[in-house]
Order: sequence, then structure tokens, then C-alpha cells
Amino acid sequence: MLLESQGISHLRHCSRIWSAFLHAPAPGRILSPIMEVIICNTYEELCRAAAREVADVLNAKPNAVLGLATGSTPLGLYQELARMYKRGELDFSHVTTFNLDEYVGLPITHPQSYYHFMHENFFKHINIPPHNIHIPSGTTTNYRAFCEWYEKRIVEVGGIDLQILGIGSDGHIGFNEPGSSLSSRTRLKTLARPTIEDNARFFDKPQDVPIYAITMGVGTIIEAKQCLLMANGKKKARAIAAAIEGPVTSMITASALQLHPETKAYLDTEAASELQMRDYYDWIQLKKPGAPRV
Ligand code: PGA
Repeated sequence: MLLESQGISHLRHCSRIWSAFLHAPAPGRILSPIMEVIICNTYEELCRAAAREVADVLNAKPNAVLGLATGSTPLGLYQELARMYKRGELDFSHVTTFNLDEYVGLPITHPQSYYHFMHENFFKHINIPPHNIHIPSGTTTNYRAFCEWYEKRIVEVGGIDLQILGIGSDGHIGFNEPGSSLSSRTRLKTLARPTIEDNARFFDKPQDVPIYAITMGVGTIIEAKQCLLMANGKKKARAIAAAIEGPVTSMITASALQLHPETKAYLDTEAASELQMRDYYDWIQLKKPGAPRV
């Protein structure tokens, strides 16, 4: 961790987080466990279901603010959203986006930069105005000032309505590696070795993987009004079980989502395979249509 404090007091961090945890569910929503777990048979089904969640948010609020993630997990979601846009079902002309993270040192033209990933895999296929797109800068000359600006910008546009999240095999969200403060804000992080090893598959040589990244903090993420965690594949099963059913701990930063009032986890059966309460999650979904509304 290079820069933990961004000059905001620890107490202010904590009170923001607790107010995010404690706000009541929106009227009309079904009373649900704190984290709703939806298990899909296939990755394709998972992506279609997640895309419907995004569409619901955009239909209710055409100028919604989306928090976006990179990585292989949300790729199918972006493809599905682009398909919905092409069919005339979605309009991104008033949408604003904030990406979770970016590698330090990669120019935006680098094929592995998250800027490049987002434009190639999503933005160039939809009608989002370029000035509404925010991606952390991996090449700024002043990281502290940039991180403070990023946080301020999120507040200026009214906060993130829906935050899309993947999960690392070490349980991270964004690049909030094990041990990250659960009240952390956007800052520089030193990547953990397992993350560097996981991401080496995208680079020619393992030593080409950047060691540092800029990432929204856990505190930043959990202030989003809704969070949508996606995971697929056996490799994520352990992290998912720890995040959803284990203790809330900075060692699995995704576990902070247990305290968020509106998080849905969309999983495929492999990612769900180590969950102990799987039958109950399926039962909740089965009985959802008849549940009383708040
Ligand atoms: P992945 O990465 O989607 O490529 O598995 C997720 C993450 O590290 O957050």
C-alpha cells in the first residue's frame, strides 16, 4: 500500500461506511437477506440475468451512474448490454460510468490497460458520450491529487447507482487486496503476488504485469446504492464462499458486501459450489414471487 490516507479523517471514513450499511431498502423491494445470492446454470445465463439488472436500473433512471469492472468475468455482461443497445432496448446517452481500477504505468493505448479493455469490449459498442466515461489514470504525474479528484467526481454526479464487481481468487474487489482497510478510498495499491500470477495470462511475460494499480477503495465501493457481484468458474468458489458466508474481514475484501443493504451476487454453479447455504439461496429465489413487499 503506497498511499493509504487521502487526508480524510478515519472517523469520517467510518461514519460514511456505516451510513451506507444502514440505509433502508428502497420502497417496493422484497425483504431479502442482506446479500441476495442468485445461482445460474451457465455463464451465459448469469450474464443475461446481470444485464437485466443493469437494464432495470437504466430504465428507472436513464442518467444512472454505473460503476464498472474489468476482467474476464464481466465480458459476457458487456456483450449482452451491447446487444440490448443494438436491439434498441437500452440507451446510454445519459449514463455516466466510473471504472474500479487501472494498472499503473500502462498508457491508455496498451492492449492490457483497462482503458483499452473498456473501450474495445464495451464503450465502442454503445452510445455513451466519451466525456461521461471515467477510468482511473495509470499515468498521472500526481496520484494523490488524481485519487482525490476521482472521489470528488463520484460525489458531484450524485454517487454510483449500481456497481458491477468481479472477485479475485484472493477475495479482492477492485484491487483491494487482502489486508486493505474496509474504509479505504481511491488510492494506489501494490498488487499481491496471487493477483499478479492470475493476471499474467493476459501478458506476454509474467514480469510484464504491473506491480501497482490505482483502485477505488472498499469504502468507495460500498457507498454505491446497489452492488452486483459476478463470479463464474471453480477457481472463484473458495473466495465466493468466504466472501458470502465467512466473517467480514479485510482479508477477504469482498466480505464487506455482507454489510451492504442492496448487494446481489450472480454466480454460476461452479462458483457457488463451496457455499454451505446453497439450498436456502435457491429456496429464496423459488419463493420470491410470493414474498410480501416492503
Ligand atoms: P477476472 O478478475 O474477472 O478476470 O477473474 C476478477 C478480479 O480480479 O477482480
